[in-house]
Amino acid sequence: MNQIPVIDVQNVHKSFDHVHAVRGIDFRITKGQSVALLGPNGAGKTTLMEMIEGIQQPDKGDIFIKGKKWKGNESDLHRIIGLSLQETRFIDRLTVSETLALFAAFYGLGQQRVDDIIDTISLRAKSRSYVVNLSGGQRQRLALGIALLNRPEILLLDEPTTGLDPNARREIWSILKGLKTHSHTSLVLTTHYMEEAEQLCEHIIIIDSGRILKQGTLDQLVAGDGTDKIIEFTLNESSLSQKPAAGKIDFTAAGFDIFWETQGKKGTIAMSAMEQELPRFLDFLTRHRLSLQHLECRRKTLDDIFTSMTGRRLVG
Ligand SMILES: Nc1ncnc2c1ncn2[C@@H]1O[C@H](COP(=O)(O)OP(=O)(O)O)[C@@H](O)[C@H]1O
Ligand SMILES: [Mg+2]
Repeated sequence: MNQIPVIDVQNVHKSFDHVHAVRGIDFRITKGQSVALLGPNGAGKTTLMEMIEGIQQPDKGDIFIKGKKWKGNESDLHRIIGLSLQETRFIDRLTVSETLALFAAFYGLGQQRVDDIIDTISLRAKSRSYVVNLSGGQRQRLALGIALLNRPEILLLDEPTTGLDPNARREIWSILKGLKTHSHTSLVLTTHYMEEAEQLCEHIIIIDSGRILKQGTLDQLVAGDGTDKIIEFTLNESSLSQKPAAGKIDFTAAGFDIFWETQGKKGTIAMSAMEQELPRFLDFLTRHRLSLQHLECRRKTLDDIFTSMTGRRLVG
């Protein structure tokens, strides 16, 4: 058994002028594991990734890749890491095939590998197209292809599908799922789409303001506290205003596991047994002469968890 983590991030900090972008992050990943760094814009994801990639230096803390620090091991580490940055600049006047051939040459790889990768990223029909003419999804696939050229042991992807439409996003997911099935590549990706983290990564690290809020498997995160369902409600404004104590309805005192709430008007309640809790909630509303504008019952999501801890949504 190999005991050395593939990536070991120890109490890493990074500041820019007045912004403390990464404030003491710790995590490690083992061979073949996929980890998502899930957080909103500005959470510190790119800064953290760039430190793992050796592009930026931590102010404090250490990062080990297969037991090695970047300093002094640059060429060894570059050989085993494939990465795509949040924004990839290509040479617009090269074709897809020429772009891949250029990077392949850096690694001493031949045309065969270029051809294989073109198939992996499903860009055969575009192989002679100029990069400047690719769609957003095709560009992201090309960036992924470049990252995969050298059969990396570790793949680091910064927001691989941000800005893409749902179809283009699913195409990238399908390439990455194929890779997970057919190799032992370790994957770290950043995203603000909870679905992307759920689809691709067995371990999810939720980060905000440079810190880890919570981490674990999807099941641990969603159902770790014994509740895995949510009712989301919006109360009718007029029924609220008729009450003398508007906004002071105490759901918690009534025994509801309020997960998140704004001014007593809108909120989510976490529960395990919907069949018992939902009637009790409706009964509670009736007794308080409150009416509903909206009610939704669903599985708890990572976004709910983020909102319950920050009061904000992951996206938007
Ligand atoms: N080079 C930089 N100079 C100044 N501030 C930066 C720089 N890079 C990132 N930041 C700041 O650090 C914080 C985290 O940014 P970033 O790591 O890009 O977050 P994310 O990738 O999660 O959106 C933000 O407040 C951002 O404005
Ligand atoms: Mg970023």
